[in-house]
Amino acid sequence: MKLLVCGGAGFIGSNFVRQRVEEHGDEVTVLDKLTYAGRRENLEGVPHAFVHGAIEDPAAVAEAIEGAEAVVNFAAETHVDRSIAEPDAFVKTHALGTFVLLEGARERGLRYLQVSTDEVYGSIEEGSFTEESPLEPSSPYSATKTGADLLVQSYTRTFGMETVICRGSNNYGPFQYPEKLIPLMILNAFSGDPLPVYGDGQQVRNWLYVRDFCSGIGHVLAHGEAGEVYNVGGPDECTNLEVVERIVELTGADPSLITYVEDRPGHDRRYSLGSEKVRALGWEAQVRFEQGLEETVAWYRENPGWWEPIRSGDYREYYERQYGSSLG
Ligand code: NAD
Ligand code: TYD
Repeated sequence: MKLLVCGGAGFIGSNFVRQRVEEHGDEVTVLDKLTYAGRRENLEGVPHAFVHGAIEDPAAVAEAIEGAEAVVNFAAETHVDRSIAEPDAFVKTHALGTFVLLEGARERGLRYLQVSTDEVYGSIEEGSFTEESPLEPSSPYSATKTGADLLVQSYTRTFGMETVICRGSNNYGPFQYPEKLIPLMILNAFSGDPLPVYGDGQQVRNWLYVRDFCSGIGHVLAHGEAGEVYNVGGPDECTNLEVVERIVELTGADPSLITYVEDRPGHDRRYSLGSEKVRALGWEAQVRFEQGLEETVAWYRENPGWWEPIRSGDYREYYERQYGSSLG
């Protein structure tokens, strides 16, 4: 299959491209703006064509979409904390970008998969979200992702376009930018820096190993029904504090590095995603959290060449803005 993968130089996108090329023999073109989170090195050793550009730029989309049989859109601004500090790019990429990309796919009659998130449902105290749960996003990140989902669905209802939406729970694994909880804690633990836990650390996330999300997306791309949404949730839930404590054990760091810091505004307490619908398409998560976390710590330990340049570059400035220089 010939795929256009937008945002394919980011964390999940690059894992997806690798899986599609290596396991399915797909021919992939990546369209990516290469923001701070997008890196050419994430795709090293994976044969693909590359167009450097934004999904909100019709000329870049026209160039990249040439010859594609389907479009998979990962391109997004993805960090909740950044969406609180600077929401502008979130609105532009998620609203305008998704629109321009949808138009490109519609003109050519292509199947379109939007990669979305469980955060569109907001927070849930008990039980799990289904695809019918109301959309109640809390942050500028999740609100603009919700807007994009609704636009995608409107293209099926209005124009009969073949779209599907895949909503994943929190991903972790190789190539995740260290602003996110798990890689941030692993790298801080390696270097003996404080481990900043927001609020009381009792927030719950539903962890999904990145390659399981990628195979879920593959199932929905192949078998999902047009106009439908599919949740792809991880097999395990745990509190942030449990995650950080396990990272402390796996890295041998000093537990006194755990530092409680001010909570995130509008912080969702718990995410939990029911995945029965995608299971009915034949998908199943393969990696339990315990095993995936061990593999992820090992990957970061073995790949300092990937993260050292990130940590000493713009990331440092972001980190000091977000956490204050007192956190080291
Ligand atoms: P990421 O931040 O690592 O990567 C995003 C990629 O998109 C980067 O390569 C970036 O350069 C590119 N990009 C950003 N704006 C662009 C634009 N306007 N035009 C073209 N490219 C652009 O993010 P990720 O964690 O890999 O997330 C990928 C997708 O999966 C997102 O849509 C996100 O909402 C969704 N998702 C993420 C998670 C998670 O836990 N990380 C969970 C569920 C869903
Ligand atoms: P994050 O990785 O930003 O993902 P999301 O907000 O999309 O779920 O955060 C995961 C959880 O970890 C979330 O409850 C916020 C918390 N968190 C911390 O406690 N400290 C941190 O330094 C970060 C980045 C996140």
